[in-house]
This record gives sequence, structure tokens and C-alpha cells, in this order.
Amino acid sequence: MDVAAMDAILAKFPTIRGNLIGILHEMQSHFNYLPEEDLRYLSKKTQIPITQIYSIANFYNRFSLKPKGKNTVCVCLGTACHVKGAERVMDEIKAQLKVDVGESTDDMQFSLEEVRCIGACSLAPAVVVNEETYGQVAPKQIHGILQKFKK
Ligand code: FES
Repeated sequence: MDVAAMDAILAKFPTIRGNLIGILHEMQSHFNYLPEEDLRYLSKKTQIPITQIYSIANFYNRFSLKPKGKNTVCVCLGTACHVKGAERVMDEIKAQLKVDVGESTDDMQFSLEEVRCIGACSLAPAVVVNEETYGQVAPKQIHGILQKFKK
């Protein structure tokens, strides 16, 4: 575990009360997931029961308890996107990345997720990579989109 990183994150918060979600956000950004040992350290340092920390970490989609890839590819499978062929887009991404939903590539470059609606139905089918939204995505565009994020 990374004590120095955890102490630096905790130092950003003058009080712990009311800031647990903010601390977890900082941890997620720094580690790209919430490592178990670091959550235990957080619990010890803050006196917040580990069960309470886990219940918050599990509640919000933003938090991951498993290591995530550098880039998150999120395919919308809501009704509008489904009607416009989101399943074909998802199948193409799975084939190119060789992962299923909830998994990360071996090189930890990408994680694949699905959502039910991102509120951009007029762009259906929609795919979000990190903070970037792609609309009216066709399977043949997937290779080019993924290439943009490969390092
Ligand atoms: S259903 Fe995909 S953006 Fe709304």
C-alpha cells in the first residue's frame, strides 16, 4: 500500500466528517481504483468503520474495487441506443479489446462498462471513453476511436 499517497490525500481534507466521498474520489483518481489495504488504512486513520466505507464505495458507480484500465470505455445500452444498434457496437468493442463488460484488458489500457442511458439519446448509439462522448457510433468506427486512446 502507498502510505505517502494516502497521507497526501488525507491532508487535502481539513476535516474528515462529511468528506468521505471526496476522499474516495481522490483515491479513485490516484489509484484508478480503491485498493483494499488503502481503504483499511483510511478506516484506521479516520475511525470510520470499514463497513461504512465499503457501503459507500459499492453504492457509487464511480468507484471501483477492482483495478481499472487507464481508459474507461462505456457503452450505452439504454432503449434508444439499443434500438439504434448498441449491441453490435458493444460486440465490436468486446472483440477488439478481448474483454467482457466489467473487465480490463491485460495491458490495463482499457476497462469496459455499460450504462442504461447517459442522457444523450439523440446521439444514439452512444459510447463514452473517459470524458469524451461519441454519438451515432457504427461498429466500423470502433477501431479508430480506441486507437485515439492507446498509448
Ligand atoms: S439510451 Fe443511450 S443515451 Fe439515452
